[in-house]
Amino acid sequence: MLHGGQGTRLRPITHTGSKQLIKIAGKPVSRWMLEKIRDLGIEEFIIVLGENDPRSVIDYYGDGSALGVRIKYLYQGKARGIADAIYRCRGMVGENEFIVALGDNVLIDPIPARMVEAGNSVLLARVRDPSRFGVAVISEDRIVKMVEKPKEFISDLALVGIYKFSSEIFQEISKLRPSARGELEITEAIQGLIQDGFDVNYEVVGNWWKDTGTPEDLLEANMYLLDAYAQRYISGSIVDSEVLGRVYLGQGSRIINSKVIGPCFIGENTTVADSTVEPFCSIGDGASIERSNLSYSLVMDGARISRVSLTRSIIGKNVKLERAEGSEKGVNAVLGENSTVILR
Ligand code: DAU
Repeated sequence: MLHGGQGTRLRPITHTGSKQLIKIAGKPVSRWMLEKIRDLGIEEFIIVLGENDPRSVIDYYGDGSALGVRIKYLYQGKARGIADAIYRCRGMVGENEFIVALGDNVLIDPIPARMVEAGNSVLLARVRDPSRFGVAVISEDRIVKMVEKPKEFISDLALVGIYKFSSEIFQEISKLRPSARGELEITEAIQGLIQDGFDVNYEVVGNWWKDTGTPEDLLEANMYLLDAYAQRYISGSIVDSEVLGRVYLGQGSRIINSKVIGPCFIGENTTVADSTVEPFCSIGDGASIERSNLSYSLVMDGARISRVSLTRSIIGKNVKLERAEGSEKGVNAVLGENSTVILR
């Protein structure tokens, strides 16, 4: 599982942390993927760490026992490419076949069981903007070509960030030279496999998946995950409030004089008072929402929101966002950790 990279497109949210640890629908982005791989029967994981906040990744996942898996770590440092990250794992992987997952990708459905069959496999998904991805050209039911971020249209079948390899991939990676973006590209290594006559199986994922590379993607991934997995579970307390539908309310949280409409996730020790929380909101632990309206937004741990109407917004950890008495306009914001905003 790759947990490196810079996360520049998610700044300011990722200035202070790893983008794969951002919680959506109650769990870090990368944990959604890790659990799906575990559910294929895989128990041993290597997490590749980058320069951006590797300590928090280790603190969060530990040795993996809380998730029923065994996790080892490998420090990649500077992001020299997905293929570089894989190559660094070769000593730990040995001759075994293995799965590679990009920690910023979220797949909604379970991973197809075909991914644990012998040989090399990729998942593909039809996308509207293929120039953002690696793409595969299919002919007579076989992958014949792969190109990373094609400038000219050659296919709308994008490579989903989960791959299955046998050890010949290391040979292909060793032949690569850095691409125009200065990285060793896994797409080029797979193209090498194809050229050298190895079969690369594929499956097209019908349902939604997304690379959570931008704030809009994160909000959309949050929506799809809540839609697919949210369940009604109330552990906290509800006082003079309406809590409707698939709402998760964690331990120690309180809903007071408010209305919450699922699907929504509210973590532990969070207070929602005199507010409305509409569908597709995920609110972290220890947050406070007061006299506010929220819809389709992510609010991270410890954020304090007062007297604002928020939609399509991402509010980072420990952000304080409040409106002075008097003004009533809505807000659309992406606010990084620890910022304070007072609207007048
Ligand atoms: O999301 C799917 C796409 O992911 C594929 O369609 C592309 O073929 C593939 O190249 C990749 O493209 P991105 O440009 O979106 O990759 P990104 O740099 O965002 O990195 C993906 C993940 O891998 C992210 O979790 C960070 C991690 N990573 C990346 C690099 C370059 C590392 O751990 N180390 C690295 O050196």
